[in-house]
Amino acid sequence: PPAAAGRPPAPSAFVTARRQLQIDAAKTGGGGGGGPAKRSLGPSRRTPTSGFVPPFSRSKAASPPPQEQQQQRPPQPAAAEPELSEAAALVQEDERLRGLDVKLVETILREVMDSAPSIGWDDIAGLEFAKATIKEIIVFPMLRPDIFTGIRGPPKGLLLFGPPGTGKSLIGRCIASVSGATFFNISASSLTSKWVGEGEKLVRALFAVARCRAPSVVFIDEVDSLLSARSESEHESSRRMKTEFLVQLDGIGTEAEERLLVIGATNRPQELDDAARRRFVKRLYIPLPEAVGRRQIVERMLVGQSHSLAEADIEHIVTATDGYSGADVANLVREAALGPVRSIPLDRIRSISVSAVRPIGPQDFEEALTQARASVLPSDLVHYANWNQSYGSYRRMV
Ligand SMILES: Nc1ncnc2c1ncn2[C@@H]1O[C@H](COP(=O)(O)OP(=O)(O)O)[C@@H](O)[C@H]1O
Ligand SMILES: [Mg+2]
Repeated sequence: PPAAAGRPPAPSAFVTARRQLQIDAAKTGGGGGGGPAKRSLGPSRRTPTSGFVPPFSRSKAASPPPQEQQQQRPPQPAAAEPELSEAAALVQEDERLRGLDVKLVETILREVMDSAPSIGWDDIAGLEFAKATIKEIIVFPMLRPDIFTGIRGPPKGLLLFGPPGTGKSLIGRCIASVSGATFFNISASSLTSKWVGEGEKLVRALFAVARCRAPSVVFIDEVDSLLSARSESEHESSRRMKTEFLVQLDGIGTEAEERLLVIGATNRPQELDDAARRRFVKRLYIPLPEAVGRRQIVERMLVGQSHSLAEADIEHIVTATDGYSGADVANLVREAALGPVRSIPLDRIRSISVSAVRPIGPQDFEEALTQARASVLPSDLVHYANWNQSYGSYRRMV
């Protein structure tokens, strides 16, 4: 898709002065249907001399000593092109990216590299065993690769499995945050649907960019849809993507001290085939939250909210949400928080003062409990527990 450079902006759109100048220039001087000068992407920038600004004064440039003349030729395209996109600059600059499609690199930087606010261990309720394990086997090695070498070396692949909404994505983000790593976040189902045909190249580009930005954490959500045993019978392209992914996983750690970690998350671990499962050396069960975890989620969400819940009410909520996932509990609290505003008549909503909205009370939770139910079936839990017994790295959990 072409950049919006040539198009006049929508009437309401904000336009920088610089951009307006370009638009005006295009309107008045353009002629001949050539359109306005392209701003960045396009073949014109491949001409080595276009827009080249010599890094020395003009008089000197007129008669440079022969030696200097030799050195400055050919001119460095990177210096010549101040408007080079980040992706293009990266591809030119880093030899590990040579030959990659700039557009794909751009996609990775824009859509996969994730700079959402960082989170810490305290933002993840419960899961004490998982957190302690991850600190020991993943985070410390990422912080001190010099200590964790050889047989202390970290696993290159970590699989987080368990019911949906239990904090797997939170953990991925947290690992990246606390180890100061660049976070790449991609959903495998988008790889297989949105990137049909290009998936293989995208996977290669993803790992190449992750290496450039190391230390990196590559988080692949719904990894089962990328690596399922089923995909053997599917499209040639998705089979190639799967192969490429396995090749990339095998390639990690061949360079000493390479700080690249791949985390796969799945609600359907049983769909991973042997080959895929083996690549994720550590397989960690992320179970439903225990009472402690559920309490933490409720209490943290209520911080700063006006409510009239006594300790006994909280205790009741915690008990009543046995079997809820973390996401289910969060939904319940959001639902309950709407109770007080729901009772405000429509004609008063514009004028009512914040202090006149009544606090969230136990009755709001009673009401919410009838709406927001557990999303995970008890029978599913048996499957996760069994899979953990067969393939989990840690047979005990909590
Ligand atoms: N252990 C947890 N601690 C705090 N919040 C949680 C926890 N588990 C789930 N949540 C809530 O549920 C939402 C979805 O969690 P997520 O990490 O995406 O689950 P998963 O990736 O396991 O499906 C989170 O944004 C958070 O609001
Ligand atoms: Mg998730």
